[in-house]
Amino acid sequence: MAEVIIVRDAREAGEFVADAVIDLVRARPSAVLGLATGSSPLPVYDAIGRRAGEVDLSRVHGFALDEYVGLPEGHEQSYRATITREVVVPLGLTPANVHVPCGRVEGIRTAGEEYDTAIAAAGGIDLQLLGIGTDGHIGFNEPGSSFASPTRVKTLTRQTRRDNSRFFGHADEVPRRSITQGIGTILRARHLVLLAFGESKAQAVASAVEGPLTSSVPASAIQLHPRATVVIDEAASRLLANADYYRDAFADSSAWQTR
Ligand code: F6R
Repeated sequence: MAEVIIVRDAREAGEFVADAVIDLVRARPSAVLGLATGSSPLPVYDAIGRRAGEVDLSRVHGFALDEYVGLPEGHEQSYRATITREVVVPLGLTPANVHVPCGRVEGIRTAGEEYDTAIAAAGGIDLQLLGIGTDGHIGFNEPGSSFASPTRVKTLTRQTRRDNSRFFGHADEVPRRSITQGIGTILRARHLVLLAFGESKAQAVASAVEGPLTSSVPASAIQLHPRATVVIDEAASRLLANADYYRDAFADSSAWQTR
């Protein structure tokens, strides 16, 4: 099962996960991070940014989880632009070390395989940050995605496009397709850290952590991983049947143990 850590708020989660990232980079200056976009990982990037003087991140490698297909080059909501703005610049990563799947329509057929090859060539991902969609997706692996899937193109659900319309103004402007690390790709990372905040994520979190393993809830695949840590606030924990157990287990443990 995943290790579940219930924190007071997103800021505390950010500081907690930033500690883990900074410890990792101190031990391995060329660590490979899996970078999520969206709102959930922002407190982590903020917390690392506040402590940027403590550790040199210039040798760190980064692989984004996903990208929209077909946005014009440089579009401010492309995940390439978002990762540059929210991660590469504030954290002082070296731009050439940070990879985002290529969402250009030309070449899209081979882009997934090339991305998985690049991850493998970098030695695999040490720590993969994840958010979770209200429909249970991780990356843009929408319900029905194979747990063995490689990086590939996925059509976004209407719900995901509605959820992401806050970045675009209107759901119709959200691209219909994405290129996303597959669930098989994600499961190869050595440590998964899934973040979720707020009531709107409570159902997806409960299904992912305590529900049956099912491709209908892609995030339930994290139960297969030997080192998955779920960091959530009270509101996102509300539908967990075993919340007290997670609190007891966390109080008894040093954090980040393998379950
Ligand atoms: C983003 C990604 C998505 C988001 C998810 C939650 O790279 O892959 O799975 O993590 O849609 O988004 P937020 O965090 O904005 O609620």
